[in-house]
Amino acid sequence: MNQQDLIEKANQEVERNREKVESDPYRLKFHLMPPVGLLNDPNGFIQYKGVYHLFYQWNPFETAHGSKFWGHYTSKDLVNWEHEPIALAPSEWFEKNGCYSGSAIEHDGKMVLFYTGNVKSEEGERETYQCMAVSSDGFTFEKMGPVIHLPEGYTAHFRDPKVWKREDTWYMVLGAQDLNEQGKVVLYSSQNLTDWEFHGDITGSDLNGLGPFGYMWECPDLFELDGKDILLVSPQGLEPEGDLYHNLFQAGYFVGELDYEKPSYQHGAFAELDRGFDFYAPQTTIDEKGRRLLFAWMGMTDDYEKYQPTIENGWIHAMTLPRVLSIKGEKVIQQPVEELKPLRKNEVAYENVQVNTEIVTLDKIHGKTMEMLIDGMSYHSDSFEITFRGAASFFYSAKDNKMSLHRKNFKDGRVESRHCQIYGIKKLHVFLDTSSIEIFVNDGEEVFTARFYPSTKNESISFKAERNLQFNIKKWDLA
Ligand code: FRU
Repeated sequence: MNQQDLIEKANQEVERNREKVESDPYRLKFHLMPPVGLLNDPNGFIQYKGVYHLFYQWNPFETAHGSKFWGHYTSKDLVNWEHEPIALAPSEWFEKNGCYSGSAIEHDGKMVLFYTGNVKSEEGERETYQCMAVSSDGFTFEKMGPVIHLPEGYTAHFRDPKVWKREDTWYMVLGAQDLNEQGKVVLYSSQNLTDWEFHGDITGSDLNGLGPFGYMWECPDLFELDGKDILLVSPQGLEPEGDLYHNLFQAGYFVGELDYEKPSYQHGAFAELDRGFDFYAPQTTIDEKGRRLLFAWMGMTDDYEKYQPTIENGWIHAMTLPRVLSIKGEKVIQQPVEELKPLRKNEVAYENVQVNTEIVTLDKIHGKTMEMLIDGMSYHSDSFEITFRGAASFFYSAKDNKMSLHRKNFKDGRVESRHCQIYGIKKLHVFLDTSSIEIFVNDGEEVFTARFYPSTKNESISFKAERNLQFNIKKWDLA
């Protein structure tokens, strides 16, 4: 089908489902979602001519994965977003099974997208093409077709171009799988954005002392933060190790140094970016204020995906809140963007709340959507727990120096947990939307992100301690 017909068909799907989708009590209030169908990775995140553009992987026709489109949102402030006409539809031979993930850059006043054309041949064989599309307004794109073909030594799991400029040269990282089925990140460079020189692997499974580290690495993103070169990447195929790697796929980072001359990338250990259940394929951009901003897909392609209750209302998945990155030692810190603050309404506050072994609720702290700031915490060497709408809870044990997020799983409601080591909690910053939770611990030192589906009537927030917990709390409605 040609691009115009595909777009028309997708628009009709949006219209046909609008009422059903919007009637869903789990529709989020301050997160980006697809108007219908399935959303996954953030793509093409850029501030272009002053406006933030966020594209996303979108299957408008099903609440399952398939031939992806690039949906498109724009915003002047990262908080109020407009849904724009579809940017890319999978209409051409080199992308017929999906305009897969990629990135955006600005060059000579134009917005240029790089994305992966996913193709499945008649025989079911996968093909992959790294494609380019150009726009002079950021809304309508001219497809230029493939600029990179699969090099020797890799399977067709070769995708998700992220492009940036350094001095006069353009660079691109891609996620890849080599012929031994090891996940890799490869590097290209270019002077003109159309001719790309291949430089091989810069890191990956069985490289740089990592040992076996996954069969495929998706969605790499390489950028400088405070003089260090950070590589974000989403490896597939890591086995759980203690408290680590319990989601089906991981999303994390390395801190290191990219030697552009060789090129080679020396780095430290892999660290997960998020400790919750739903965080994948993060992508960053640098904005006009010089901030390194991140969005991630607040979802996961696992066996539980198909049990998400929003499916019966015709949609699935969302983006995380936008976050700002900074670096502290070897650790990447994530904080919600300050633009969210003007959304705060109806502040309520309690000082010196005392919680003992009895479950405590606070008169003014309840609701379905809110921002909460809990600080001045003291708990001696005991544990405490905060339960959100009866369906998710945050637990900390000072004895074990461990925090946990529990939620009911989507399939049968059984409780599942994620854990993370931490030496003391001073502050919790919580964003609760109708069916999501993001907890920033100690000013973003760790973050737990998850979807959860409380009973729509339950608005309770409750506290409990092993012996004694003391804290100050502020809460805002978010409007
Ligand atoms: C990550 C990913 C990417 C791919 C896209 C397809 O979630 O698998 O590697 O480009 O999703 O939607």
